[in-house]
Amino acid sequence: MDTKTWDFRNINALLSANDDVQEIKRIYQQGGLIALPTETVYGLGGNAKDDDAVKAIYEAKGRPSDNPLIVHIHSMDQLADFTQNISVETITLMQHFWPGPISFIVPLKSGYLCDRVSGGLSSIAVRMPSHKVGRYILQQVDLPIAAPSANLSGRPSPTLFEHVYQDLNGRVDGIINGDQSEEGLESTVLDCTVYPFRIARPGAITKQMIEEVIPHSVEAFTDFNNEKPIAPGMKYKHYAPDTPLTIIRNFNKMPTTVQEWQNIAFIVPDNKKHLVPHNAQFISLCTDTKDLKGANHNLYTILHRLDNDTNIKHAYIYGFKDTEQSNAYMNRLMKAASQQIIEGDDL
Ligand code: TXA
Ligand code: MG
Repeated sequence: MDTKTWDFRNINALLSANDDVQEIKRIYQQGGLIALPTETVYGLGGNAKDDDAVKAIYEAKGRPSDNPLIVHIHSMDQLADFTQNISVETITLMQHFWPGPISFIVPLKSGYLCDRVSGGLSSIAVRMPSHKVGRYILQQVDLPIAAPSANLSGRPSPTLFEHVYQDLNGRVDGIINGDQSEEGLESTVLDCTVYPFRIARPGAITKQMIEEVIPHSVEAFTDFNNEKPIAPGMKYKHYAPDTPLTIIRNFNKMPTTVQEWQNIAFIVPDNKKHLVPHNAQFISLCTDTKDLKGANHNLYTILHRLDNDTNIKHAYIYGFKDTEQSNAYMNRLMKAASQQIIEGDDL
């Protein structure tokens, strides 16, 4: 299959590209797949009403069919078509956080979307992304677009056009370039079919941020690294680079016998650069040990880089202290690092 690409890194190029937009719309209407940028990660989009399109998404990614997809919308008016009995509290949160990096699991109204998109569940995950390019495309296409992260199953989620191209060129109809995803980690998934709500996947929107809008509305802290998975997708192996990765919290406990530092990378905040052994490679994770936004933004881009750089044989990466803010980053990192951790005090 030929994969068409569009360069809309400059939003003005998109706004004046009416023919391209019509072509994208036609491809989605006819059941084709196009990857599009969002502020979290790139998504592999297809018409959520079209069973063939949704089947093709699972095939293109090599994704297990019991792992349901998130449906992307541009307007809350679309919700009435395929959801029912959404609580007032859920609507309040949607109005507060959308467009943005949070997906809500709500009761599904059957008959409008294809059954496959929800993996046979009676609930559906919905998100309204804020990325200028992704949002404009969703508005113009005006269909509910099912979009999992646009990576092959088991690979890190894509935060750049090049990541999507590497995984999916030849497997999908098109890929839209909208530059680097601002957030860098997948959306928070909030299960709103129970009350208090449950965080099924941690992301940029934290329990504290939700409870600033509605006090006491989120179930107590979940340890995502031990708990039985809530979201079906959490049980699959995820996000692991081929390069061995060790989480490091304490440089004093580093192995001292290493000979070939030049093949070893240290992914740490800029203000810890002085601790990186001489001759080893330094990769900037973020500005300092408080800069979680920067770490979230850069994590997947760095994981992709590790696998594409054959000079790096092993990498050590900075582990943040466990807090609510670091939850999303540490959740992804623990999977990527196969739980290896050099314990000790924080750097
Ligand atoms: O940021 C994001 O959410 C990205 C962008 C493209 O929007 N999408 C994304 O989709 O990460 P995906 O398919 O890679 O992850 C969806 C997660 C999976 O863990 C899935 O199991 C869970 O959401 N999920 C979807 N529908 C669900 C449902 N009805 N009940 C429980 N979990 C659900
Ligand atoms: Mg994914």
